[in-house]
Amino acid sequence: MVDAAAFIDEATAAVDAAVGDRRAVIALSGGVDSSVAATLAYAAIGERLTPVYVDTGLMRAGETDQIRETFGYMETLEVIDARERFLDALEGVSDPERKRHIIGEQFIRVFERVGARMDARVLIQGTIYPDRIESEGNIKSHHNVGGLPDAVEFDAIVEPLAELYKDEVRAVARALELPAAIADRMPFPGPGLAVRVIGPVTAERLRVAREATAIIEAELAPHDPWQGFGAVLGKATGVKGDNRIHGHVVAVRAVDSRDGMTARAMELPWQTLQQIQSRITGQVDGVARVVYDITHKPPATIEYE
Ligand code: XMP
Repeated sequence: MVDAAAFIDEATAAVDAAVGDRRAVIALSGGVDSSVAATLAYAAIGERLTPVYVDTGLMRAGETDQIRETFGYMETLEVIDARERFLDALEGVSDPERKRHIIGEQFIRVFERVGARMDARVLIQGTIYPDRIESEGNIKSHHNVGGLPDAVEFDAIVEPLAELYKDEVRAVARALELPAAIADRMPFPGPGLAVRVIGPVTAERLRVAREATAIIEAELAPHDPWQGFGAVLGKATGVKGDNRIHGHVVAVRAVDSRDGMTARAMELPWQTLQQIQSRITGQVDGVARVVYDITHKPPATIEYE
């Protein structure tokens, strides 16, 4: 386990040295990795850093407000509403790898625009060690590693967390006194809720994934999962009052893991599962059915695409 205080000193000095007297941008997603990387980078280079939060419309419930609250002290913080742009770019796309590449591409374009406006020559990223392993092994093109378009218009990419595992990043987050809601927050994939709806990405399907995920995160909190979320699988028949309906099928995913590279489906109490089912079918409009995913990783992945 990394010595958090020593790491903070070293990483701050390293970012300072790598950026030199240039300006830099970083993508803030609300997750622990980018939050820690941004906090370190801001400590290192202050207002020569522009932290950029892109509201892709693929984020978890309440993410945008939380970002403003936590990082509002950074005077250069930019919050960009790109929801329409992402939804348009993803229209009619079902292939998982295409989705990832489109999202990665849109992301980097938005950054390049902000970067150009700020005259930023350096891109800082919160990539951690397992991201690199999986991307090199080509298991999946993580948008922030393997999915970058060729023409990245930055002079340098700096990744201060590149040698850390997730639990180490959390320890650093606590040492930096980031709020517990961030330090203990479950991992969230770069392509966001888009990889939690199987097939086409629509505003409606994203809403279901977002609302179900909020319920699942809350209900699972006492069980302290590595990750817990809802995914939209497709449609199936249900009954509402006297009518048959054709509604969404939501899968509940709850896994234990150390680093995301392997994972175990959790043995949750039946009551917890039923409470989740009853809240989702009762509170999330248009859901006909809730199922529990009992597959470990491997053979499944944690996310659905
Ligand atoms: P999988 O689904 O491959 O996920 O078992 C392993 C861990 O990585 C997260 N994940 C991602 N993180 N960009 C990221 O930054 C991505 O494209 C991505 N895909 C998956 C996932 O949530 C899990 O914690």
